[in-house]
Amino acid sequence: MRTLVAALLLSLPCLAQEVTRYNPPGIDPKDLPPSLALVQPVGRLAEVGGPTFTRTNKGMTVTMDLDATDLYGGGEVTGPLRRNGTRIELWNHDNYQYKDYGGKRLYQSHPWALGVARDGTATGVLFDTTYRSFLSMQNGTVTLESTAPALPVYVIHGSNPQEVVAKLGQITGTIPLPPRWALGYHQCRYSYAPEREVEEVATEFRKRHIPCDVVWMDIDYMDGYRIFTFDPEGFPDPARTNEFLHQRGFKSIWMIDPGVKKDPGYSIFESGNQKDVWVKTASGQPFVGKVWPGECQFPDFTRPDVRQWWAGLYKPFLAKGVDGVWNDMNEPAVFEGVDKSMPLDNRHEGGGELPAGPHLQYHNAYGMLMVRATREGLQAARPEKRPFVLTRANYLGGQRYAATWTGDNSSTWEDMKMSVPMSLTLSLSGQPFNGPDLGGFALNAGGNLWANWVGSGAFFPFCRAHGSKGTDRKEPWSFGPETEQAARIALSRRYRLLPYLYTLFERSSRTGEPIMRPVFFADPADPSLRSEQQAFMLGPDLIVVPAWAQHPRLPKGQWRELHLLPGDDGPFQARLLQRAGSIIPLGRVVENTEQDSLQPLTLSVAPNGSGASGELYWDAGDGFGYRHGDYRRSKFVARQLDGRWKVEEVGHEGNRAPDWKRQDVTIVSSR
Ligand code: NOJ
Repeated sequence: MRTLVAALLLSLPCLAQEVTRYNPPGIDPKDLPPSLALVQPVGRLAEVGGPTFTRTNKGMTVTMDLDATDLYGGGEVTGPLRRNGTRIELWNHDNYQYKDYGGKRLYQSHPWALGVARDGTATGVLFDTTYRSFLSMQNGTVTLESTAPALPVYVIHGSNPQEVVAKLGQITGTIPLPPRWALGYHQCRYSYAPEREVEEVATEFRKRHIPCDVVWMDIDYMDGYRIFTFDPEGFPDPARTNEFLHQRGFKSIWMIDPGVKKDPGYSIFESGNQKDVWVKTASGQPFVGKVWPGECQFPDFTRPDVRQWWAGLYKPFLAKGVDGVWNDMNEPAVFEGVDKSMPLDNRHEGGGELPAGPHLQYHNAYGMLMVRATREGLQAARPEKRPFVLTRANYLGGQRYAATWTGDNSSTWEDMKMSVPMSLTLSLSGQPFNGPDLGGFALNAGGNLWANWVGSGAFFPFCRAHGSKGTDRKEPWSFGPETEQAARIALSRRYRLLPYLYTLFERSSRTGEPIMRPVFFADPADPSLRSEQQAFMLGPDLIVVPAWAQHPRLPKGQWRELHLLPGDDGPFQARLLQRAGSIIPLGRVVENTEQDSLQPLTLSVAPNGSGASGELYWDAGDGFGYRHGDYRRSKFVARQLDGRWKVEEVGHEGNRAPDWKRQDVTIVSSR
């Protein structure tokens, strides 16, 4: 056991030594608020060679020269992957179609930048504050103009950007291993309601043999938009709806917003009143703001007792067979509110390690503290299952609690193309489990756009199609047979890749490595790759080149064309390139992840001169048995013997017997 732990520690990049903390001069560090981004205090304290701190009349400005030719990061952003010359505001904002503020302020805040030098070495800088700030990247220099009175800064040096991003994940927290079903395809709409519509959509997927794991319930399932209730007409028996889905191999995810309808007699409102859980105005009254149900009050998630109250609300909700939870509108969005949210001088009480503070301080952390409580609620209600939570708002480090999507995009070519740099930038900012509304949320899509989008979107870590109220239907079959067939092929490819994807997720949950990666990760010293934002990588061994990509820059070296099923070289389908020297584990095409993917296991071997190697991680797919050894991390090696390829499992970790009965091998050698 000892040796295993030691081996594991050795295989992880070492942590604290390469993180340096810089405190603002003239301030007692004890007077700085505790970090919401970091999992625990880290870093060697240094005074020289770091950023410059300047007090301003608004707060503090911090500047750091990263000595980098290319800058990345900043979390959830619109615009290009390479962030040189950009300025964004870190102030979580409900930004429908990314139209407000020219799209330079979105739903999440990640005060973090990554600089890559000409030779491929890298430096990351984390500005440790939740206060409203501007983040600019210019000429190799990163500047945070913050309203925080003072903030510490952490700097990470690495011999390449992969190391720095992994270290960010280690200090701010890696994703918890999701249930395997969350890696499947998700179908959503605002809203599938009433119950009959949910059943029709699910039935259609199975009838048409299009893989899908999850159907989503948006706000219209509720009774007058009161959270934790069900519309007695549309969803008279939600347990029955969930049972219908479960019997057909689907999971269900249901939305919960933070605003509680101000409605005497409504049990959640009354229970909130009893405990006085609300965010207060400067004069100490519960703050009231409008959201979907009309006037609402908002839980103060900075308070540990409120988080506990909120967590407890999920038990009866989950008892109806709900599998996962979608927390939306948690910037928090307030219709007709100050800048679509709360006044800056609203009061949050804090508690535990958190001091009381104004909304100016806690706005950016509101969504993160909410999903922390949601996750705790799910875990407590069903200790034997891995929780799945999706959030719209978040803050650096929030990947510890929830996956995310990039909010209300539009069904346009521009948004489809931009979804690649958006997801890559989130991935470079510590949040690997992310994706856009596939096909676009606002506006009508049209079959050509939707087919192109699913052809590339099938390879994003989070793969969910969505569509807004009032738009044309956006299920895979809604656009006619050509788009339907394109979707069937693209999604079947995703399911074939499930063993590889799951291996990447598990690795990310241990090491902090991103799942979706920029192409320059394949060769960080090649400057020609630094702006590539059409093609992207899935793990270290696969490049995805969307069908719509024009003149993508691809890394040197040998990459082999990977085909996963008949027809996958047809229109709309992304090209997949496998790294020579790698083995990618593949499953069979299943219609949902609860079917047995590994019958048989196929090892896709792309040999280089000396053979190939690869890994497969597999476990029960849900639950925590893996923490007690019920998993198998297999290492495969391919060697040529007498002109024939011999591929074998050369070792494994974990106590689980192989889940596959048969192991097939395909050799990928064409370019
Ligand atoms: C806003 C979310 O971004 C969107 O995905 C959802 O459909 C609507 N709220 C309605 O709940």
